Amino acid sequence: MPVSLQNHGDIAVITVDNPPVNALSQAVRNGLVSCTQEALADDAVTAIVLIGAGRTFIAGADIREFNLPSAQPTLNDAISTFEASSKPVVCAIHGTALGGGLETALGCHYRVAVAGAMVGLPEVKLGLLPGAGGTQRLPRLVGVEKAMKLISSGDFLAADKALDAGIIDHIVDGDLTAGAMAFARQLVADGAPLKRVRDLQAALPEGRSAADLAAAEMKAIARRTRGQPAPQKCLESVANAVTMDFDAALQREREIFEELKAGPESQGLRHAFFAERAAGKVPGVSKDTATREIKKVAIIGAGTMGGGIAMNFANVGIPVTLIETAQDALDRGLAIVTKNYTATVSKGRLSREKMDQRMAMFSGAVELSAAADADMVIEAVFENMALKKEIFSKLDAICKPGAILASNTSTLDVDEIAAVTKRPQDVIGTHFFSPANVMKLLEIVRGEKTAADVLNTTMKIAKKIAKVPVVVGVCDGFVGNRMLHAYTRQAGFLLEDGALPQDVDRVIYDFGMPMGPFTMGDMAGLDVGYRVRQERGRPAANYRYSEIADKVVEMGRHGQKTGAGWYKYVAGDRTPHPDPEIEELILASAAAAGVTRHDFSDDAILQRCMFALINEGAKILAEGKAYRASDIDVIYTNGYGFPSFRGGPMNYADQVGLETVYQAVKEMFDGGDEWMDPAPLLARLATEGKTFADWDAENN
Ligand SMILES: NC(=O)c1ccc[n+]([C@@H]2O[C@H](COP(=O)([O-])OP(=O)(O)OC[C@H]3O[C@@H](n4cnc5c(N)ncnc54)[C@H](O)[C@@H]3O)[C@@H](O)[C@H]2O)c1
Repeated sequence: MPVSLQNHGDIAVITVDNPPVNALSQAVRNGLVSCTQEALADDAVTAIVLIGAGRTFIAGADIREFNLPSAQPTLNDAISTFEASSKPVVCAIHGTALGGGLETALGCHYRVAVAGAMVGLPEVKLGLLPGAGGTQRLPRLVGVEKAMKLISSGDFLAADKALDAGIIDHIVDGDLTAGAMAFARQLVADGAPLKRVRDLQAALPEGRSAADLAAAEMKAIARRTRGQPAPQKCLESVANAVTMDFDAALQREREIFEELKAGPESQGLRHAFFAERAAGKVPGVSKDTATREIKKVAIIGAGTMGGGIAMNFANVGIPVTLIETAQDALDRGLAIVTKNYTATVSKGRLSREKMDQRMAMFSGAVELSAAADADMVIEAVFENMALKKEIFSKLDAICKPGAILASNTSTLDVDEIAAVTKRPQDVIGTHFFSPANVMKLLEIVRGEKTAADVLNTTMKIAKKIAKVPVVVGVCDGFVGNRMLHAYTRQAGFLLEDGALPQDVDRVIYDFGMPMGPFTMGDMAGLDVGYRVRQERGRPAANYRYSEIADKVVEMGRHGQKTGAGWYKYVAGDRTPHPDPEIEELILASAAAAGVTRHDFSDDAILQRCMFALINEGAKILAEGKAYRASDIDVIYTNGYGFPSFRGGPMNYADQVGLETVYQAVKEMFDGGDEWMDPAPLLARLATEGKTFADWDAENN
């Protein structure tokens, strides 16, 4: 039984035991109601304690049930059973009381918690609002202003902060059940009132109205939450706690919940949530797959990437050796690491002591032989195949047997690198994103011969260093950058065809990306892509090529770092300013290329960029370079700032409809753009009326 009742003389203890996190499934809701009724009917019982078994209190609703029609009893039914109880109900919290878990706790008359407990209403992160009284009861305990902030951000509070805010009444030292029972007995002995939160008044700061507060909060979060209805709805519902009667506001809250749940933003966020979990499952790797122990790591190259990669390991207490070619390069690399930590300390996000502990994890060397005792070596030298091969063949001779040899290459063939060693099974790609100490995404490149335990170990260590790992196959640019090239290429063509950088960037920003492709290019530096294009040479003649990007670099405009790129910049300011010189260049280049420019609607701009991304994603999927469409979504939401509320590019395609995407791609291709040859998988799914989610379900 997921919920059970034990009588300890005068106190009834109701325990929720629904591993792993005591989610509020229908069976749990049922059990909560029936156990409470049983305890109420027992004359020997004077008070009730509600507690979770295992590692946590109720950590939330059962999200899988969100896609089903709601089943009785609802959570509101269960909660009102506690609230209406004639005997005091004390909720005992350890681990986390989140979402429906905290709403359940708020329905109890009193709440106690262990010092390490956390509480929160994170529904907004799934595009929802707390739909079982959270927006009504929380403001009655903590005041309207604080409730608005907590609910619209979804932030958690630690037990001490929750105590200060009035969410919990007491912190228990020692055994929680015993502490909660003692607290309940004391209530009975004192004849304490049944504190029904619904009967309290939601407090407003002097002279402020709920509408005022909601408007001010909305203004504060508008930029971060653009395109998402949930934060605004959270504020609106909290405001109802002041202006409406409790039951009417509760009903309204439920209606808003249902509206949000049915909307595309919540669907996208829920998809993103499940996609991240699914990405952890890798074909050929199971619970029984062995892992190798990683106690010491070496990083080759302390440049832009190497230092940041090393920080990830130092942060979790794994000793890491940075290896460079010369002392000055090593010193420069270590100085950047020190500077990064110092900046975090000065922002108050890291203690000096912790920084010292982390720095103590670092050692440096100018000899590759320093990698001899490392359990994992990550190579992050220049992107040059000959150099990487040279390093890997040396590592093969130097490293101890069983060491994992990883390359941080962003484009090169990991199999070709592995082939220079006598241990290709130990070679893998770990594609970190810049800045490597900050960005969550890690593309793990599975080589043809990479052993299952090497892959498993790399996945595990990635999670340990707080990355979101996604396994991809060997191909040019792997998944993320390969798709990005298709996207930026179309953005470039749009300039020749009639748009300006600021038009494209505005549309992409409004879609929810942190910035458009031209602002992004200026930030990253335009010279990098230029050099790659020069090295690779022009594509075949039937493939379109726009010279504009090359000309921008040849004008000395390398992006923000040179004060000008696609935009111009004022010294010390990163704001891009449109530049008439660029417009002139675009017009002249279009004329020289014989292209007649025309106006583009915002929709046409969006389609051109996004559908290129999606079409390439479909090719990657069919080639088996990603295991799931949802893996591609994880890559984009975690590595490229793709808005989570759209779920990722492949989920967005499903939302738009694959038939629409396919027709638009086909039209571009038929119009003469060879780059846009429709992915056969996209064509097939569109014809069959299916989605990428269907493909995932059929193939995993
Ligand atoms: N910069 C990015 O945004 C980014 C993102 C993902 C992946 N990558 C990849 O990471 C790798 C490193 O890129 P980066 O931007 O850090 O380059 P970088 O030029 O900033 O740093 C490379 C470092 O490697 C050192 N080095 C060169 N040869 C060496 C050798 N034989 N032994 C030891 N050290 C040596 C250099 O002195 C230099 O400090 C490349 O493969 C690149 O494609 C870069």
